[in-house]
Amino acid sequence: MHDALKPPHHIAVIMDGNGRWARARGLPRGLGHRAGAQAVRRIVEACCDVGVRVLTLYAFSWENRDRPAAEIRELMGLLEEFIRRETPTLLANQVRLRTIGRMEELSADVVASLRRVEAQTAQGARMTLALALGYGGRQEIVDAARRLAERARQGLLRPEQIDEAMFAQQLYAPDLPDPDLLIRTSGEQRLSNFLLWQSSYTELYVTPKLWPDFTKEDLLDAIAEYERRERRFGRVTAQA
Ligand code: IPE
Ligand code: IPE
Ligand code: MG
Repeated sequence: MHDALKPPHHIAVIMDGNGRWARARGLPRGLGHRAGAQAVRRIVEACCDVGVRVLTLYAFSWENRDRPAAEIRELMGLLEEFIRRETPTLLANQVRLRTIGRMEELSADVVASLRRVEAQTAQGARMTLALALGYGGRQEIVDAARRLAERARQGLLRPEQIDEAMFAQQLYAPDLPDPDLLIRTSGEQRLSNFLLWQSSYTELYVTPKLWPDFTKEDLLDAIAEYERRERRFGRVTAQA
């Protein structure tokens, strides 16, 4: 566990409210997702500007797979469009793209384009953009447990050797630090299976703003609020 770096080193976002944004305008949900994709562009750029080093975006959850097939198709289409249109910008801004989640749940084409952009942007040193796709925090923990169990079965590992650090090494992106700040838009005060392991000491920030309406100013407000927080990590601090 590292002490807080300011501004937050790693921001994670539950981008919620696309459907409500569309409904408020009498539009189909798909147009809400399209507006949400614009907000993604805005916030990636803003995070680059303010010096955030890792941005993890919850784009499609394990449970979102139970949504209507037509909505899933629209989301995947937008994802492909995003990859196609944004790759030059990612390269120009030295942003490295990563993915976390059970990627085998996505179509082979989408996975192939994501893998291609991951390889193309692998040298991006300014910021890492991690897209959570087919992602569930519990599923990630189960996958890690399976890998450790398999190594124990092969006799490569004794169960008593397993500690938090070794467990964390089996998560989807073991090299990324835990999020410092977790933002959720649209007012819901829950994690919805996002980064369960990694968020144990993350500062939570919920805003009523719907994701398509979320701006750079809103991001700066969240960061300012984060900077006012006192992170204690269970300890007693000098001020106490
Ligand atoms: C978030 O917006 C985007 C995804 C979950 C993919 P929603 O689609 O959940 O929007 P609401 O919650 O219905 O408003
Ligand atoms: C969380 O939002 C998932 C993403 C933003 C991708 P949901 O809209 O799926 O969460 P619930 O259903 O309100 O908990
Ligand atoms: Mg939602």
